[in-house]
Amino acid sequence: MSDSQSVSAAVAKLYNTYPFPPEPLLDEPPPGYNWRWNWLAAYNFCTGQKPQKQDIRILDAGCGTGVGTEYLVHLNSQASVVGIDLSAGALAVAQERCQRSGANRVEFHHLSIYDVEQLPGEFDLINCVGVLHHLPDPIRGIQALAKKLAPGGIMHIFVYGELGRWEIQLMQKAIALLQGDKRGDYRDGVQVGRKIFSSLPENNRIVKYEKQRWAMENQRDECFADMYVHPQEVDYNIDTLFELIDASGLEFVGFSNPGFWQLDRLLGKAPELIERAENLSERQLYRLIELLDPEVTHYEFFLGRPPLAKADWSSDDKLLSAIPELNPCIDGFPSQCIFNYDYQIVNLSTAEFEFMQACNGQATVGEILANVQLSLDGVRTLIKQQLVMLT
Ligand SMILES: C[S@@+](CC[C@H](N)C(=O)[O-])C[C@H]1O[C@@H](n2cnc3c(N)ncnc32)[C@H](O)[C@@H]1O
Repeated sequence: MSDSQSVSAAVAKLYNTYPFPPEPLLDEPPPGYNWRWNWLAAYNFCTGQKPQKQDIRILDAGCGTGVGTEYLVHLNSQASVVGIDLSAGALAVAQERCQRSGANRVEFHHLSIYDVEQLPGEFDLINCVGVLHHLPDPIRGIQALAKKLAPGGIMHIFVYGELGRWEIQLMQKAIALLQGDKRGDYRDGVQVGRKIFSSLPENNRIVKYEKQRWAMENQRDECFADMYVHPQEVDYNIDTLFELIDASGLEFVGFSNPGFWQLDRLLGKAPELIERAENLSERQLYRLIELLDPEVTHYEFFLGRPPLAKADWSSDDKLLSAIPELNPCIDGFPSQCIFNYDYQIVNLSTAEFEFMQACNGQATVGEILANVQLSLDGVRTLIKQQLVMLT
């Protein structure tokens, strides 16, 4: 067995012992939405417009127990979905989860990301959440996935960040030392880890961090094991993250938690510093933000395969003839107080509310504005907030 094969075998063994994530199985579709798994909302986020087709193919690479996969099926009513994973145990749970909630446009394959070429055809949306950082060779993994992304398609990725996981790394190493020869016995690892936490002084830094950030989810052994006794983990910083992205040959579209990556949030009180930062490249700016706010436990972002047509609605004529529709990921509408795609509360003005009520997928912006007292910039604000999307 090569090193890479033995690491993959160890990873599969972990997830066979502790299938992840351990969310309960339901007999109905899962509640709410995660906009990153809704093709319309995700595509609109990436390009500023509604995609042309909805009968797409989606790959959930490293689907685990299928929590994301199930959403991908239910949130995309015309899509066909494929889930792959290295762990047969996790896949069995994923299969049952989808069966029980009626998510039937899905097939699962016991397949490594390295071998994804064995699947026929290409995918319009690839979701790979919490997986690449567990591969012995993440670059080989992302390159294999990139080859399966259709032109104009998008890929959503989530990988760990090193700055916000420092205490976790220390604990991982401590457990490994105490496990000695028993490394690879994941139940023993969980037991050792829990014993350490219950023995350390209460004001210990690692204990405090665990309590503050993770204790709730780590009550479940599956989560504790995933965090502290993993046989393979690579954590990134902005520099190494972009090495991974560059190696994929795909275009970096943007972080899917854009609010975090705003320098104003940190240095808003010092316009002269913000001005200095204008000389930085995009990557240097991201690096600056993470250096000043080293809470980054993960990076989540979209990559795209060109050509990915980005819409520009600055021309009045173009905007007037566009057809607006509501973003499928909003909650509470019709009401002037709604949740946006990211579950943030938005208060709509009466004119904005009336505009949104008139969005029926047929009328153009110009036709709607003939009856609603909203300016074109008012419409642009709705677009910027991603409450409506345009064709
Ligand atoms: C932390 S879980 C994430 C599961 C799921 N994506 C989610 O976010 O809920 C990581 C999963 O990746 C799978 N995995 C690890 N290496 C893989 C590989 N080379 N190919 C396919 N799946 C892999 C593991 O078996 C495990 O189920």
